[in-house]
Amino acid sequence: MNKSHCFHFSFLPMGMRVLYTSTLIVLGTGYLFAMIYIFSSHAGRDGNPALSVNDLIIAYSGSKSDTKIESALKGPMSNMLPQAEKDEIVAWVRRGAEEKDFEPKIALIFEKRCLTCHNGSNPHIPTLKGYENVKHVAEFDTGMDIFTLVRVSHIHLFGITFIFFIVGSIFCHSYIKPLWVKCIVLMLPFVSILLDIGSWYLTKVYPPFAYVVMGSGGLMGFSFAVMWVTSMYQMWFYKVPQDLIDNDGVVS
Ligand code: HEC
Repeated sequence: MNKSHCFHFSFLPMGMRVLYTSTLIVLGTGYLFAMIYIFSSHAGRDGNPALSVNDLIIAYSGSKSDTKIESALKGPMSNMLPQAEKDEIVAWVRRGAEEKDFEPKIALIFEKRCLTCHNGSNPHIPTLKGYENVKHVAEFDTGMDIFTLVRVSHIHLFGITFIFFIVGSIFCHSYIKPLWVKCIVLMLPFVSILLDIGSWYLTKVYPPFAYVVMGSGGLMGFSFAVMWVTSMYQMWFYKVPQDLIDNDGVVS
Protein backbone atom coordinates (compact mmCIF):
# COMPACT_ATOMS: atom_id res chain seq x y z
CA MET A 1 0.00 0.00 0.00
CA ASN A 2 1.21 3.49 -0.79
CA LYS A 3 1.13 5.89 2.10
CA SER A 4 1.88 9.58 1.53
CA HIS A 5 4.65 10.96 3.66
CA CYS A 6 4.82 14.16 5.67
CA PHE A 7 8.40 15.26 6.22
CA HIS A 8 9.81 17.20 9.11
CA PHE A 9 10.72 20.85 8.47
CA SER A 10 14.43 20.04 8.48
CA PHE A 11 13.88 17.75 5.49
CA LEU A 12 11.96 20.32 3.45
CA PRO A 13 13.51 22.44 0.69
CA MET A 14 14.72 25.90 1.73
CA GLY A 15 12.12 27.59 -0.51
CA MET A 16 9.28 25.92 1.31
CA ARG A 17 10.66 26.85 4.71
CA VAL A 18 11.01 30.47 3.64
CA LEU A 19 7.41 30.43 2.38
CA TYR A 20 6.15 28.90 5.64
CA THR A 21 8.10 31.38 7.74
CA SER A 22 6.85 34.39 5.80
CA THR A 23 3.28 33.12 6.04
CA LEU A 24 3.57 32.62 9.80
CA ILE A 25 5.04 36.08 10.33
CA VAL A 26 2.23 37.81 8.45
CA LEU A 27 -0.49 35.69 10.08
CA GLY A 28 1.04 36.34 13.50
CA THR A 29 0.95 40.07 12.81
CA GLY A 30 -2.66 39.70 11.71
CA TYR A 31 -3.46 37.94 14.98
CA LEU A 32 -1.95 40.83 16.96
CA PHE A 33 -4.07 43.34 15.09
CA ALA A 34 -7.16 41.20 15.67
CA MET A 35 -6.43 41.32 19.41
CA ILE A 36 -6.02 45.10 19.31
CA TYR A 37 -9.31 45.36 17.44
CA ILE A 38 -11.17 43.15 19.90
CA PHE A 39 -9.77 45.10 22.78
CA SER A 40 -10.59 48.53 21.37
CA SER A 41 -14.09 47.59 20.29
CA HIS A 42 -15.17 45.82 23.50
CA ALA A 43 -13.02 46.94 26.42
CA GLY A 44 -14.40 49.64 28.67
CA ARG A 45 -18.08 49.15 27.90
CA ASP A 46 -18.72 48.50 31.58
CA GLY A 47 -16.82 51.61 32.65
CA ASN A 48 -13.65 49.71 33.57
CA PRO A 49 -10.84 50.03 30.98
CA ALA A 50 -9.77 46.35 31.09
CA LEU A 51 -11.45 43.78 28.84
CA SER A 52 -13.79 41.78 31.06
CA VAL A 53 -16.58 39.26 30.85
CA ASN A 54 -18.94 42.14 31.68
CA ASP A 55 -17.87 43.98 28.51
CA LEU A 56 -18.77 40.90 26.47
CA ILE A 57 -22.11 40.53 28.20
CA ILE A 58 -22.93 44.15 27.34
CA ALA A 59 -21.76 43.71 23.74
CA TYR A 60 -23.82 40.59 23.08
CA SER A 61 -26.78 40.69 25.39
CA GLY A 62 -27.02 44.37 26.22
CA SER A 63 -26.88 46.24 29.48
CA LYS A 64 -29.63 46.29 32.05
CA SER A 65 -28.56 49.71 33.22
CA ASP A 66 -27.30 51.41 30.06
CA THR A 67 -28.80 52.40 26.79
CA LYS A 68 -26.89 51.60 23.61
CA ILE A 69 -25.63 55.15 23.32
CA GLU A 70 -24.36 55.17 26.90
CA SER A 71 -22.39 51.96 26.48
CA ALA A 72 -20.99 53.30 23.19
CA LEU A 73 -19.98 56.57 24.86
CA LYS A 74 -18.22 54.68 27.67
CA GLY A 75 -16.59 52.22 25.27
CA PRO A 76 -15.63 52.59 21.59
CA MET A 77 -16.99 56.14 21.13
CA SER A 78 -15.49 57.59 24.31
CA ASN A 79 -12.79 59.57 22.49
CA MET A 80 -15.16 61.28 20.09
CA LEU A 81 -16.18 64.10 22.39
CA PRO A 82 -15.17 65.95 25.57
CA GLN A 83 -16.43 64.72 28.96
CA ALA A 84 -18.72 67.70 29.47
CA GLU A 85 -20.64 66.97 26.27
CA LYS A 86 -20.73 63.28 27.10
CA ASP A 87 -22.32 64.14 30.45
CA GLU A 88 -24.89 66.32 28.72
CA ILE A 89 -25.94 63.54 26.37
CA VAL A 90 -26.10 60.99 29.19
CA ALA A 91 -28.15 63.36 31.35
CA TRP A 92 -30.56 63.93 28.47
CA VAL A 93 -30.91 60.19 27.88
CA ARG A 94 -31.47 59.56 31.60
CA ARG A 95 -34.22 62.18 31.65
CA GLY A 96 -36.03 60.06 29.08
CA ALA A 97 -34.47 61.29 25.81
CA GLU A 98 -37.41 63.57 25.13
CA GLU A 99 -37.84 65.35 21.84
CA LYS A 100 -38.55 68.73 23.42
CA ASP A 101 -35.04 68.82 24.94
CA PHE A 102 -33.27 67.59 21.81
CA GLU A 103 -33.04 70.86 19.89
CA PRO A 104 -30.89 72.85 19.86
CA LYS A 105 -28.20 71.85 22.36
CA ILE A 106 -28.11 68.04 22.09
CA ALA A 107 -28.69 68.09 18.34
CA LEU A 108 -25.71 70.40 17.99
CA ILE A 109 -23.37 68.01 19.84
CA PHE A 110 -24.38 65.16 17.56
CA GLU A 111 -23.90 67.34 14.52
CA LYS A 112 -20.47 68.48 15.62
CA ARG A 113 -19.06 65.20 17.02
CA CYS A 114 -20.85 62.28 15.45
CA LEU A 115 -22.33 63.04 12.05
CA THR A 116 -19.05 62.88 10.13
CA CYS A 117 -19.35 59.12 10.51
CA HIS A 118 -22.95 58.47 11.54
CA ASN A 119 -24.55 60.30 8.62
CA GLY A 120 -26.19 57.26 7.09
CA SER A 121 -23.53 56.61 4.44
CA ASN A 122 -22.21 53.54 6.27
CA PRO A 123 -24.99 50.94 6.55
CA HIS A 124 -23.21 49.09 9.37
CA ILE A 125 -23.28 51.86 11.94
CA PRO A 126 -26.39 53.59 13.25
CA THR A 127 -27.44 56.87 11.65
CA LEU A 128 -27.59 59.70 14.20
CA LYS A 129 -29.23 62.32 12.03
CA GLY A 130 -32.32 63.85 13.62
CA TYR A 131 -34.29 62.94 16.72
CA GLU A 132 -35.99 59.81 15.35
CA ASN A 133 -32.68 58.11 14.61
CA VAL A 134 -31.03 59.16 17.86
CA LYS A 135 -34.02 57.90 19.84
CA HIS A 136 -33.34 54.45 18.43
CA VAL A 137 -29.96 54.18 20.18
CA ALA A 138 -31.21 55.97 23.29
CA GLU A 139 -33.55 53.08 24.04
CA PHE A 140 -32.84 50.12 26.28
CA ASP A 141 -29.74 48.29 25.02
CA THR A 142 -30.38 44.70 23.90
CA GLY A 143 -26.86 44.13 22.57
CA MET A 144 -25.77 43.21 19.08
CA ASP A 145 -28.75 42.37 16.90
CA ILE A 146 -29.13 38.93 15.35
CA PHE A 147 -28.49 40.18 11.84
CA THR A 148 -25.14 41.65 12.87
CA LEU A 149 -24.25 38.42 14.68
CA VAL A 150 -25.10 36.35 11.60
CA ARG A 151 -22.99 38.63 9.41
CA VAL A 152 -20.01 38.51 11.77
CA SER A 153 -20.46 34.73 12.28
CA HIS A 154 -20.09 33.81 8.63
CA ILE A 155 -17.08 36.07 8.21
CA HIS A 156 -15.42 34.46 11.23
CA LEU A 157 -16.32 30.89 10.28
CA PHE A 158 -14.76 31.28 6.84
CA GLY A 159 -11.83 33.45 7.86
CA ILE A 160 -10.76 31.46 10.92
CA THR A 161 -11.01 28.18 9.03
CA PHE A 162 -8.63 29.50 6.36
CA ILE A 163 -6.15 30.80 8.93
CA PHE A 164 -6.05 27.60 10.96
CA PHE A 165 -6.01 25.38 7.92
CA ILE A 166 -2.86 27.17 6.79
CA VAL A 167 -1.20 27.32 10.22
CA GLY A 168 -2.23 23.70 10.92
CA SER A 169 -0.86 22.46 7.59
CA ILE A 170 2.48 24.04 8.43
CA PHE A 171 2.42 22.68 11.99
CA CYS A 172 1.80 19.16 10.58
CA HIS A 173 5.48 19.10 9.60
CA SER A 174 6.60 19.32 13.20
CA TYR A 175 7.75 16.43 15.32
CA ILE A 176 5.50 16.04 18.38
CA LYS A 177 5.21 13.07 20.65
CA PRO A 178 2.78 11.65 21.62
CA LEU A 179 0.71 11.99 18.47
CA TRP A 180 -2.53 12.72 20.29
CA VAL A 181 -1.08 16.02 21.60
CA LYS A 182 -0.48 17.11 18.02
CA CYS A 183 -4.01 16.10 17.03
CA ILE A 184 -5.56 18.03 19.90
CA VAL A 185 -3.59 21.19 19.13
CA LEU A 186 -4.69 20.90 15.49
CA MET A 187 -8.34 20.43 16.41
CA LEU A 188 -8.57 22.96 19.21
CA PRO A 189 -9.09 26.13 17.14
CA PHE A 190 -11.90 24.58 15.13
CA VAL A 191 -13.69 23.44 18.26
CA SER A 192 -13.08 26.88 19.80
CA ILE A 193 -14.55 28.83 16.91
CA LEU A 194 -17.76 26.80 17.05
CA LEU A 195 -17.97 27.22 20.83
CA ASP A 196 -17.14 30.92 20.52
CA ILE A 197 -19.72 31.75 17.87
CA GLY A 198 -22.40 29.54 19.45
CA SER A 199 -21.87 31.37 22.72
CA TRP A 200 -22.40 34.80 21.12
CA TYR A 201 -26.01 33.79 20.58
CA LEU A 202 -26.34 31.94 23.87
CA THR A 203 -25.00 34.97 25.77
CA LYS A 204 -28.05 36.89 24.52
CA VAL A 205 -30.28 34.34 26.26
CA TYR A 206 -28.09 33.51 29.23
CA PRO A 207 -25.33 36.09 29.95
CA PRO A 208 -22.89 33.75 31.79
CA PHE A 209 -22.08 32.22 28.38
CA ALA A 210 -19.80 35.26 28.00
CA TYR A 211 -17.31 33.17 30.00
CA VAL A 212 -17.37 30.60 27.19
CA VAL A 213 -16.82 33.39 24.63
CA MET A 214 -13.77 34.53 26.56
CA GLY A 215 -12.50 30.99 27.27
CA SER A 216 -12.80 29.81 23.70
CA GLY A 217 -11.04 32.94 22.46
CA GLY A 218 -8.25 32.11 24.89
CA LEU A 219 -8.03 28.51 23.70
CA MET A 220 -7.84 29.65 20.09
CA GLY A 221 -5.03 32.05 20.91
CA PHE A 222 -3.28 29.33 22.87
CA SER A 223 -3.32 26.82 20.00
CA PHE A 224 -2.25 29.53 17.55
CA ALA A 225 0.72 30.37 19.80
CA VAL A 226 1.68 26.70 20.27
CA MET A 227 1.60 26.00 16.52
CA TRP A 228 3.37 29.22 15.63
CA VAL A 229 6.21 28.88 18.12
CA THR A 230 6.68 25.12 17.59
CA SER A 231 6.77 25.50 13.80
CA MET A 232 9.19 28.41 13.84
CA TYR A 233 11.44 26.72 16.38
CA GLN A 234 11.54 23.34 14.66
CA MET A 235 12.02 24.98 11.26
CA TRP A 236 15.20 26.87 12.16
CA PHE A 237 16.66 25.96 15.54
CA TYR A 238 15.82 22.32 16.08
CA LYS A 239 18.37 19.57 16.56
CA VAL A 240 16.81 16.66 14.69
CA PRO A 241 16.53 13.61 17.01
CA GLN A 242 18.07 10.32 15.94
CA ASP A 243 14.81 8.39 15.57
CA LEU A 244 13.57 11.01 13.12
CA ILE A 245 16.76 10.64 11.05
CA ASP A 246 16.39 6.85 11.14
CA ASN A 247 12.85 7.33 9.88
CA ASP A 248 14.04 9.42 6.87
CA GLY A 249 12.41 12.51 8.36
CA VAL A 250 8.87 11.23 8.16
CA VAL A 251 6.61 12.62 10.91
CA SER A 252 3.22 11.25 11.85
C1 HEC B 1 -14.67 58.53 13.25
C2 HEC B 1 -15.98 58.00 12.99
C3 HEC B 1 -17.00 58.03 14.12
C4 HEC B 1 -17.38 59.09 14.91
C5 HEC B 1 -16.91 60.54 14.81
C6 HEC B 1 -18.38 58.58 15.81
N1 HEC B 1 -18.58 57.24 15.59
FE1 HEC B 1 -19.92 56.04 16.57
N2 HEC B 1 -19.27 54.43 15.50
C7 HEC B 1 -18.30 54.44 14.53
C8 HEC B 1 -18.08 53.08 14.07
C9 HEC B 1 -17.07 52.65 12.99
C10 HEC B 1 -18.95 52.25 14.80
C11 HEC B 1 -19.11 50.73 14.70
C12 HEC B 1 -17.96 49.98 15.31
C13 HEC B 1 -18.05 49.75 16.77
O1 HEC B 1 -19.12 49.42 17.29
O2 HEC B 1 -16.99 49.86 17.42
C14 HEC B 1 -19.70 53.13 15.68
C15 HEC B 1 -20.68 52.69 16.55
C16 HEC B 1 -21.48 53.52 17.30
C17 HEC B 1 -22.63 53.08 18.06
C18 HEC B 1 -23.18 51.68 18.09
C19 HEC B 1 -22.42 50.84 19.08
C20 HEC B 1 -22.99 49.44 19.15
O3 HEC B 1 -22.68 48.77 20.13
O4 HEC B 1 -23.73 49.05 18.24
C21 HEC B 1 -23.15 54.19 18.68
C22 HEC B 1 -24.35 54.25 19.58
C23 HEC B 1 -22.29 55.30 18.34
N3 HEC B 1 -21.30 54.85 17.50
C24 HEC B 1 -22.48 56.59 18.80
C25 HEC B 1 -21.65 57.65 18.47
C26 HEC B 1 -21.81 58.99 19.01
C27 HEC B 1 -22.87 59.40 20.01
C28 HEC B 1 -20.85 59.76 18.44
C29 HEC B 1 -20.58 61.24 18.67
C30 HEC B 1 -20.29 61.61 20.03
C31 HEC B 1 -20.07 58.92 17.53
N4 HEC B 1 -20.59 57.65 17.60
C32 HEC B 1 -19.02 59.36 16.77
C33 HEC B 1 -17.63 55.56 14.05
C34 HEC B 1 -17.74 56.85 14.58
